[in-house]
Amino acid sequence: MPSIPPEGTAAARCRIEIEALRKSFRSAAHQGGGEVVAVDDASFRIDDGEFVALLGPSGCGKSTILNMVATLIAPNGGAIRVDGVPVVPGRPIRHIGYVFQKDTLFPWRTVEDNIGYALELAGVPAAERRLKVERAIHQAGLDGFGRFYPSSLSGGMRQRVSLMRTLISEPEILLMDEPFGALDTHTKLDMHSVLLELWENTRQTVLFVTHDLGEALTLADRIILMSARPGRVKQDFKVDFARPRNAVTLRETREYAELFSKIWHSLGEEFAKGHSE
Ligand SMILES: Nc1ncnc2c1ncn2[C@@H]1O[C@H](COP(=O)(O)OP(=O)(O)OP(=O)(O)O)[C@@H](O)[C@H]1O
Ligand SMILES: [Mg+2]
Repeated sequence: MPSIPPEGTAAARCRIEIEALRKSFRSAAHQGGGEVVAVDDASFRIDDGEFVALLGPSGCGKSTILNMVATLIAPNGGAIRVDGVPVVPGRPIRHIGYVFQKDTLFPWRTVEDNIGYALELAGVPAAERRLKVERAIHQAGLDGFGRFYPSSLSGGMRQRVSLMRTLISEPEILLMDEPFGALDTHTKLDMHSVLLELWENTRQTVLFVTHDLGEALTLADRIILMSARPGRVKQDFKVDFARPRNAVTLRETREYAELFSKIWHSLGEEFAKGHSE
């Protein structure tokens, strides 16, 4: 039976619905030709404006799930619906943005031309494009670097450019695959502050993949913990720390420490399983 929302509260609109999702890969003949089940019977939903972190050990199928939502690869079973409509592999959904794990900037384009790329493709007039790019550069704290090429930027700066390159199209749904995974602790914290400030003003629906519990707690409203491969949903935790959040001081609070240790144990069990394979 569908649940009835309490009187006076609107039912949240479901944006992403994943039901009994399954994906296996067959390795090449010279690698044994065996089947690897990456994701098995994964189900969850994400409501409008929620920031959800998908947390789990390496190889548990996080990127595979993201790639299926992005229609880049096809599932073997189950269903994905975005705004109630089943996704069709290979048919991109216009209002979804994807920030990849590695920065995928064009090395031959400057910062401003990288950030403005999607607007160029969409045929946005040059003057409007310039204004939007300028604002994005400012929001990312990159003033003065617009004419630089990616090779002259630090890793953190490149990730800011990647982030703004996706956000400039104002996607309603944002998929992020460990976008800060390669950064050092301080640069990562800095990126958390940038992302929190941007997101707390726009409240897109976000599915953020990470294996870093601290990062998930800092950013998300909910943490979906996945089991070691084959990836299933093990537990779903609510992260109800007040917003706006401060990426640095949040980590000093008791509520952060309590939730951290609650999830840490469960995550540790999955790391251990991954290592004993
Ligand atoms: N194209 C592919 N062909 C064959 N196997 C694949 C392919 N993509 C993923 N896999 C396998 O599926 C499993 C899940 O991979 P996936 O990249 O989704 O993991 P992940 O959770 O994102 O890991 P990480 O945290 O290391 O990025 C792994 O065992 C991987 O080897
Ligand atoms: Mg991955």
